[in-house]
Amino acid sequence: MCGIVGAVAQRNITPILIEGLKRLEYRGYDSCGVALHLDGRLTRSRSTSRVADLEAQVQHAHLQGFTGIAHTRWATHGAPASHNAHPHFSPNEETARIALVHNGIIENHDELRRHLTELGYEFQSQTDTEVIAHLVDHMYNGDLFDTVQQAVKRLHGAYAIAVFCREEPHRVVAARQGSPLIVGVGKGENFVASDAMALAGTTDQIIYLEEGDVVDLQLARYWVVDADGRPAEREVKTVHAHTGAAELGPYRHYMQKEIFEQPRVIGDTLEGVTGIMPELFGDRAYKVFKEIDRVLILACGTSYYAGLTAKYWIESVAKVPVNVEIASEYRYRDSVPHPNTLVVTISQSGETADTLAALKHARSLGMHHTLTICNVATSAMVRECSLAYITRAGVEVGVASTKAFTTQLAALFLLTLTLAQVNGRLSDDEEATYLKQMRHLPVALSSVLALEPQIIAWAEEFARKENALFLGRGIHYPIALEGALKLKEISYIHAEAYPAGELKHGPLALVTEEMPVVTIAPNDALLEKLKSNMQEVRARGGELYVFADVDSRITSGDGLHVIRLPEHYGLLSPILHVAALQLLAYHTALARGTDVDKPRNLAKSVTVE
Ligand code: G6P
Repeated sequence: MCGIVGAVAQRNITPILIEGLKRLEYRGYDSCGVALHLDGRLTRSRSTSRVADLEAQVQHAHLQGFTGIAHTRWATHGAPASHNAHPHFSPNEETARIALVHNGIIENHDELRRHLTELGYEFQSQTDTEVIAHLVDHMYNGDLFDTVQQAVKRLHGAYAIAVFCREEPHRVVAARQGSPLIVGVGKGENFVASDAMALAGTTDQIIYLEEGDVVDLQLARYWVVDADGRPAEREVKTVHAHTGAAELGPYRHYMQKEIFEQPRVIGDTLEGVTGIMPELFGDRAYKVFKEIDRVLILACGTSYYAGLTAKYWIESVAKVPVNVEIASEYRYRDSVPHPNTLVVTISQSGETADTLAALKHARSLGMHHTLTICNVATSAMVRECSLAYITRAGVEVGVASTKAFTTQLAALFLLTLTLAQVNGRLSDDEEATYLKQMRHLPVALSSVLALEPQIIAWAEEFARKENALFLGRGIHYPIALEGALKLKEISYIHAEAYPAGELKHGPLALVTEEMPVVTIAPNDALLEKLKSNMQEVRARGGELYVFADVDSRITSGDGLHVIRLPEHYGLLSPILHVAALQLLAYHTALARGTDVDKPRNLAKSVTVE
């Protein structure tokens, strides 16, 4: 999703802006650009290629400046084309007075566009952003800070913006409502960015702007006002943001690297867990867990599938009823709230717009016990929730989530055991057994990853297909969903997942020799039922690709391919099985030659709804 960096300094800030964009690349984008204040005029460079290409353009043109803004764009309104890339200028390229970048969606852009066109503005792009640039130019009263405060009142929707003006060379003004934005405080220089990571190495003094804030950045001072225009004190925090993604090392893609990091990061996520205790989730967790009698999980994408898995765990082990909702649905539907609910958000980035909005919606309905399972300690999600468990997956670069998912599962299993303990449903023996299994997870996962050569052989077959079906039952049904999502995201093969018992109610009609059917077949209580479903597939000529456990009595035969996972892992089995499915998706995509780490049209951090 769109990323923003801006700076006002007494040195050339082009390298800081470009480096910031590089650090924001992980969010996903399709074009990028930078604008600078240069010798009393505004100049810009834009690219529909990577930030590295923009950097080359900027170097070639010797673009330098002390004040500027930069942007990575993920197209919403208007195609990913150069004329739609930010920064946008107003009134036009030749006489540019205002330069502006934006993350978010302006819902009343049509109406504003009509109005500004009547006033004589000529639009160069199809974006909703250009209306803000013209609006600021139209309203400009000689004081950019005051103008922006007035202009944002006319915007409906979500925005984080950064803007500067030809007439005020040492000033950048920024504002946020519904999209993330931080200020980086320097010595005699100030910065703005979508997240603290973009400024790593430049400043670690960070202010998290609040909804409705507008900030005035000048060389030696910054000034924040709230949504009502009142001066606002915002705490400056020292944030040791990750300095970006590590090197690829021996791996071809970040996704492959991240799949193989899973044993370590699961170990990291569970480090220090010597026993089950509510305090792992925050000081007040015991009191909260005692008070609640149900759980509501809110999330999007892969994180939603982690939530679905947790429902099976929590209901079976802790006996607490769980509802799992896709955040973008929950926030807009009429639901029946219950004050004794533990609202759990799950998010890798901690910035997903729909999940944040769903959380706020739940709170507005009177549900105030909130917990997040999140991978970014400094994110909005962690700041918004009263309890938190921080997964320690590290920076995840691949758009298709892998290690974030399995660390979420590890944290959610810990939550399951904690809720069970608080409810008197976890004996000391059970606690010891589960903890032992959790400690052994990194080793068990490593043996699954060692199956890579066998999985590569399957991937070569899959690469020639256009459709695939994934089947699972019980706790492995969400894993089938995640396996299908991974395959479609990065290989562009149409993949669907079904609970195997639903096969006869529709998907069986699709099964022919052309349809590979991936089946997750752990040796659990549902295995015999699953075997019957597999027969139904074979009887229609479907090719079965079965991930079985070491002790499942399923052997390869005609149209039946089997890979055995080295250990049968009980309730934690989803964590092992999903790793095999990640490898299948990765190698299929590799064989099809797609852009594995940056699949088309997708973004890592979805900061607009
Ligand atoms: C995007 C990412 C997914 C992620 C989802 C939710 O779609 O590509 O990998 O699962 O957003 O993101 P979150 O950061 O809230 O987990």
